[in-house]
Amino acid sequence: MIVCPFLFLQILGGLCLLRFLYTQWRIISVYFFPKEFDFKSVARDGYALITGGAEGIGKQCALYFAKKGINLILVDFNEKKLKETTKEINENFSVSVIAKVMDLTSLADPAVYDAFEKEMLKQNIAILFNNAGIAEEKRAFWNYANSTSTGISRLISINSEVVALMTKLVLPGMLERKKGVIMHMGSAAGLSSFDANPIYAGSKAFVILFARSIRDLYPTSKTGIVHHVFYPAFIRTSLTTFITSGLKKKGHENTLESLKNVIFPTVESWFESAIKTVGNGFDNGSGGCVFFEFFANYLVSFLDTTTLQKLSDLSE
Ligand SMILES: NC(=O)c1ccc[n+]([C@@H]2O[C@H](COP(=O)([O-])OP(=O)(O)OC[C@H]3O[C@@H](n4cnc5c(N)ncnc54)[C@H](OP(=O)(O)O)[C@@H]3O)[C@@H](O)[C@H]2O)c1
Repeated sequence: MIVCPFLFLQILGGLCLLRFLYTQWRIISVYFFPKEFDFKSVARDGYALITGGAEGIGKQCALYFAKKGINLILVDFNEKKLKETTKEINENFSVSVIAKVMDLTSLADPAVYDAFEKEMLKQNIAILFNNAGIAEEKRAFWNYANSTSTGISRLISINSEVVALMTKLVLPGMLERKKGVIMHMGSAAGLSSFDANPIYAGSKAFVILFARSIRDLYPTSKTGIVHHVFYPAFIRTSLTTFITSGLKKKGHENTLESLKNVIFPTVESWFESAIKTVGNGFDNGSGGCVFFEFFANYLVSFLDTTTLQKLSDLSE
């Protein structure tokens, strides 16, 4: 039988359109008809370990889990903020909080890793949030040639190496219990090139591909482990003060107000939306909010960051 090439192309085009519409429908259903994943039933009396849990996105996640009655291990090297966050949780929720002050990049030393693993595995770690991360040194924004060798190594270590080490640490226990959640903070910068921060973009591309590969190696259907990677654009935290303070300095405070919760969301509003994308079969990852999902993550490949550069404040 000879199939007319035109008919073949029509069928192919129809299938592509159906696939596209199905993907869009899945995105719409996750954000507009969200189903909250039952983290508590995974954690039971175990712990959620959050790296960089003292502030920003990590702190929001800690508060969310505490509200659900989930015990916490917060690891961060910001001692003052870690104490404040722990105090806030202890005063408001009845969960156990283990606060550990440490520079996570020290895990690259096998002796430190072994001691840390021994200490952590005394607890049942049911949930891991690989969240801690840093951006390039300000001197190297849009100027990679001006970076320092220590700055480069440090960024790759916390953003990529620590993610792989922490995942390795929790996996054996989760596989044995046939249960667990592993979430990672990637970034929209890891989906495409980002001239402002080349190593940041590279380190986040690592996180996204690492997360998806681990998901394929240990699929939920066989292991019971739920995997998720977030790849948002800009959220208001201390990591993005170069934008907030730049907009303020350049007299764009009103713009700042109107952008709130839409294209430059507060950490509270972004997290509230993002957490609902976990465990809904959306395991290729998510931008975390509608704007990032539909626009930012497509636009990022065409992004000319000159305007962002003009609006930023890169003074130390
Ligand atoms: N904010 C955004 O727009 C955005 C967008 C996409 C992805 N992300 C990613 O989301 C994650 C969280 O970012 P965030 O905006 O919440 O940042 P944040 O407010 O700076 O919080 C990160 C926390 O991690 C801690 N930390 C950094 N390096 C560490 C280390 N070596 N050892 C232990 N703790 C360490 C920080 O301590 P210090 O305060 O002492 O540094 C801080 O408490 C990062 O991986 C980031 O790349 C953020």
